[in-house]
Amino acid sequence: ISKIGVLTSGGDAPGMNAAIRAVVRACSYYQLECIGVYRGYQGLIEGDFEKLDARSVRNVINRGGTFLKSTRSLEFKTKEGRKKAHDQLKEAGVDALVVIGGDGTFTGGVFFSDEFNFPIVGIPATIDNDIHGTDYTLGYDTALNTVVEAIDKIRDTASSHNRLFLVEVMGRDAGDIALNSGIGAGAEEILIPEETAGVERMLESLKKSKASGKTSSIIVVAEGERSGKNIFQLAEFIHEQDENYDIRVSVLGHIQRGGSPSCFDRVLASKLGVGAVEALMDGKTKVMIGLHHQDVVHVPLETAIKGEPKVDKELRRVADITSV
Ligand code: F6P
Repeated sequence: ISKIGVLTSGGDAPGMNAAIRAVVRACSYYQLECIGVYRGYQGLIEGDFEKLDARSVRNVINRGGTFLKSTRSLEFKTKEGRKKAHDQLKEAGVDALVVIGGDGTFTGGVFFSDEFNFPIVGIPATIDNDIHGTDYTLGYDTALNTVVEAIDKIRDTASSHNRLFLVEVMGRDAGDIALNSGIGAGAEEILIPEETAGVERMLESLKKSKASGKTSSIIVVAEGERSGKNIFQLAEFIHEQDENYDIRVSVLGHIQRGGSPSCFDRVLASKLGVGAVEALMDGKTKVMIGLHHQDVVHVPLETAIKGEPKVDKELRRVADITSV
């Protein structure tokens, strides 16, 4: 391996810049060339490349987003698209890739690596934390802090007006953001995609909260929650059960994806970036570099993508106890 390409793909996440920086600096340390690929797999197809050296990544560790930009490329899902991408890499003399992103990014990477026998290593980056084999994905910790800060503010106004707030957080298939931010911000109830009894639980909790003398409440709802109702319909539904509730809805949206990465995410990005370059140098391919019990681990990309959804039962128990 003498020339490594690096790209970010899919939904962005705070810490992506810090990961690119670590990859570039590790290449520099080991005297490998590093090529930045702009706009993810689409840029790979179009040959949108730039040589990066240690100084190219100054002042990026603290910045949210990704300076290499990100896309969800439809063309890369086609055989022709991937062939074009391979031609571009050959022409530029790139002999291995580090792809930073979530399950869609890894799926594309597996296809590409299988078709062209091309070495690829993945770094998990998504605020959803829905990748298997790593305890944390890049951006998740920062997003949690953003959500908790926002809910703290909502709590102030909820309490002043004796209101019930429904707060929607991101998480298409995974309730990690909802469950952790819900506990951290002291929510009365938390609805997550992995559980179906959400709405009944919620009504029960609201009754209990009222009976115990609570005058305001916060319910955290993951966007992928599976009651079949969107958050505004949920608010209406609660109002139909008890019209005394003064309900407001707040959808936090994409503020969760932005902002300066937390120190945790910066350190994680640095460890995984260095780990990715070292894995490629060791001849590894089709693995994700993850963190498990503080150790950097190598997980087959297929496993990272395909694992079963996991609900942390202990967290759910703690949430139930602390919201009485
Ligand atoms: O995968 C991360 C995520 O933030 C999801 O939680 C959310 O559903 C999705 O991306 C939104 O993506 P976009 O607005 O970029 O299409």
